[in-house]
Amino acid sequence: MQNFQGIFKNFDHIFSQKVILITSFIISLYNAKEQVIHMSILNFQSTKIAVIGMGYVGLPLAVALGEKWRTVGFDINGRRIKDLNSNIDSTGEVSELDFNNSKLVQFTDDAKDILDSNIYIVTVPTPITKNNLPNLNAIKSATKLISSIISDGDVVIYESTVYPGLTEEICIPILEKENFKLNKNFFCGYSPERINPGDKTHKLKDIVKVVSGSNEYALDLIDRLYSSIIDAGVYRAQSIKVAEAAKVIENTQRDLNIALINELSIIFNKLDIDTQSVLDAASTKWNFNRFNPGLVGGHCIGVDPYYLTYKSKKAGYTPKIILGGRKLNNEMPAYVADQLIESLVEQKKDPRHCKVLIMGFTFKENCPDIRNTKVINLHEELLKRKLGVDIFDPNVNISEAKNQYGISLIAEPQKNCYHGVILAVPHDDFINQGPGYSQSFCRNDGIFFDLKGRFKIEESDFRL
Ligand SMILES: NC(=O)c1ccc[n+]([C@@H]2O[C@H](COP(=O)([O-])OP(=O)(O)OC[C@H]3O[C@@H](n4cnc5c(N)ncnc54)[C@H](O)[C@@H]3O)[C@@H](O)[C@H]2O)c1
Repeated sequence: MQNFQGIFKNFDHIFSQKVILITSFIISLYNAKEQVIHMSILNFQSTKIAVIGMGYVGLPLAVALGEKWRTVGFDINGRRIKDLNSNIDSTGEVSELDFNNSKLVQFTDDAKDILDSNIYIVTVPTPITKNNLPNLNAIKSATKLISSIISDGDVVIYESTVYPGLTEEICIPILEKENFKLNKNFFCGYSPERINPGDKTHKLKDIVKVVSGSNEYALDLIDRLYSSIIDAGVYRAQSIKVAEAAKVIENTQRDLNIALINELSIIFNKLDIDTQSVLDAASTKWNFNRFNPGLVGGHCIGVDPYYLTYKSKKAGYTPKIILGGRKLNNEMPAYVADQLIESLVEQKKDPRHCKVLIMGFTFKENCPDIRNTKVINLHEELLKRKLGVDIFDPNVNISEAKNQYGISLIAEPQKNCYHGVILAVPHDDFINQGPGYSQSFCRNDGIFFDLKGRFKIEESDFRL
């Protein structure tokens, strides 16, 4: 009897196991079918990708995608679109050859042209307000546009730099509607851009692309999409939040490292030690990481840490080191202005009767980008100290500088004219002409500041 019961029990067990197996097989078939349906959006014939925001990040991406995929680059700036349709890129990131190789890309400022897209990639700006808080206007408005046109099975990928949690807390709720839900009707992902404008060695295709997705299916699809254009390959982050955090700490780390070196530069200047020489010596150790002092501007390194600190404060912790580093870097223009005044006073000159030339206006060398340049702060600090100041930068569109900052850059400085010349942004065009070129604008007794120490120590009067 006991044996029979045992056999039946065993039979029951085997039967229920089979039912479970069959059920899960049917479910997996169903899921597989759904996924095949969704996966079918990623094929060269039917996939249409809309890249929203044709700036430093969006344009190279749209052009690279357009080598293989039907791609539309959308921007609200009609002038930019007009230029791109004539193969003109004012950011200097995309060459004529790149445009010509990208046979499947088109550019538009008409939202109708992206209506039938199935993948949307958002590359709009994420700046900060005057109070250093995240300004989410562009990312919200791009998301609202997508929300009005998105359809079943579509995928939305964010590339703009954000704080950890922003995609899920701000963007996805805008995309979701009553019967239109994440991972059921549409999918989402985050893949930060890591390009470095002006850098001809590390271009989009040469930098490992971090990818993340709202579920395994989205992650696979986003992985496949980027793998098709990125030679360096992709890295699958554990979650969207992890990918967001990874991007923001890359720039925060850089900001802090530079802040440390800026602080060291202030200390060493007081001790009459040349910082560059110290860095040369220290860099001979295998695990010393070299960073250089300087003005930290631009829309990434000087901005992204505020996204992280904002989120951290919301979570109840006010960062000390990150904000300390930000403050120190922001104070560097005033520090440089003070150094110049000190040098002029040492020469028994009255700064109020002195004229200074700043060479370089962009936020960093070899690119035309003037957004959030700290040279404008240096200019203000010098004006506050009553000096006459000219700015010269052949890489900058003079009317753009006038529009953005209300100042008039000079087209060509006069030789032997200035009491002080500050080489603030060492563009290759300046450096390749040797120190004599920058010094030629100084009067005979003029002071020459080679801020980033690109020339030999004896060739300038001061360097950070
Ligand atoms: N530039 C970089 O080096 C870099 C590197 C990595 C990441 N990022 C991040 O990428 C994002 C984009 O930066 P960028 O430098 O390319 O900015 P950008 O200012 O060069 O370009 C953004 C473009 O988006 C357009 N735009 C603004 N709002 C829009 C909207 N609602 N719809 C459509 N287009 C809109 C603007 O007209 C502009 O052409 C930012 O989050 C930035 O932090 C930038």
